[in-house]
Amino acid sequence: MPSMKPACLLIISFTIWLIVPHLCLASVQAMFGTTPNIKHIVIGRCFTYTTLVQTGSRYDCEEIWKQFEKAVVQRSSCNVTEEHYFKMFNMMPQIWPCDRFLFWSKTRMLVHSYAAVFRHFWTLEDTLVGYLFNDLIWCGQEEDSDFDFNYCPAWSTCRTHPVYSLWKHASKNFAEMACGNITVLLNGSIVNAFNRKSMFGSVELDSLNPQRVNYVNIKVVTNPEGPHIESCSRGSVVELIQILCSRGFRWTCTDNDLTLVILQCIQDLNQPSCKMLANSLLQQKDLTTT
Ligand SMILES: *[C@@H]1O[C@H](CO)[C@@H](O)[C@H](O)[C@H]1NC(C)=O
Ligand SMILES: *[C@@H]1O[C@H](CO)[C@@H](O)[C@H](O)[C@H]1NC(C)=O
Ligand SMILES: *[C@@H]1O[C@H](CO)[C@@H](O)[C@H](O)[C@H]1NC(C)=O
Repeated sequence: MPSMKPACLLIISFTIWLIVPHLCLASVQAMFGTTPNIKHIVIGRCFTYTTLVQTGSRYDCEEIWKQFEKAVVQRSSCNVTEEHYFKMFNMMPQIWPCDRFLFWSKTRMLVHSYAAVFRHFWTLEDTLVGYLFNDLIWCGQEEDSDFDFNYCPAWSTCRTHPVYSLWKHASKNFAEMACGNITVLLNGSIVNAFNRKSMFGSVELDSLNPQRVNYVNIKVVTNPEGPHIESCSRGSVVELIQILCSRGFRWTCTDNDLTLVILQCIQDLNQPSCKMLANSLLQQKDLTTT
């Protein structure tokens, strides 16, 4: 191990700062029961994963399902802990190569297009457990040996929610494995881009190991239409950097990374800031070709 102490360097690159009117979309959260056909979905995804995604990986899909079911059913819908899933997790050990770990918070859409373009990045949703349970809802019921397909409580209503406990354990495992350079994508269009209550802030950050992680490369991205609330030097991101420093991590922080801005603009070329970006890229091209 190198004897040098990690330097807490301030490497902030500002790219594009455009202030455009703020658009506010209200989202309505509906309440559902367990996802219909969950058994077929999970077992099907498991076979897809072992056959097509990670070809040649050996996992016992039927047994994983059995252990999952055992953890959840015949327990009240707010009474499933991480421990209940241990047997299931033991059946799906996984190791990732370093320098590929991608963490995110409140940037769900963007992070998945980013990972789709840069295929070497891995998010939690690329691990077997993440792949199997992504977007699903489930809960059991005390007096019945089946899932409750009518109603599941919201995550926030209890500390031992079956969905929360599974993701908490999966996130912890993922962060503990992280090594080399890791990337964290945060949303600069919201207050508390770094939120101590989010999965990243409450579970993953604490599970990262400074002995295994070389650099934490933070990228703060705002929506092309704004608002521009937080950045590497403003708001909760500063707090994240302080925590990283105090735990001995090396880090970098980038505001509006050009690649990420372009990815966002592909989805909405009519944004004024995207038009300006396109024009400036074209001008640069003109300068280099003439
Ligand atoms: C939760 O589970 C434990 C056993 O695992 C049981 O003793 C307790 O009564 C349960 N609580 C509720 C509210 O169902
Ligand atoms: C930031 O969060 C807002 C509100 O949740 C969301 O609408 C927006 O898409 C997010 N931006 C990015 C870049 O992910
Ligand atoms: C890790 O990140 C640092 C800082 O951004 C960079 O200088 C270095 O080249 C990166 N190493 C790898 C293997 O990506």
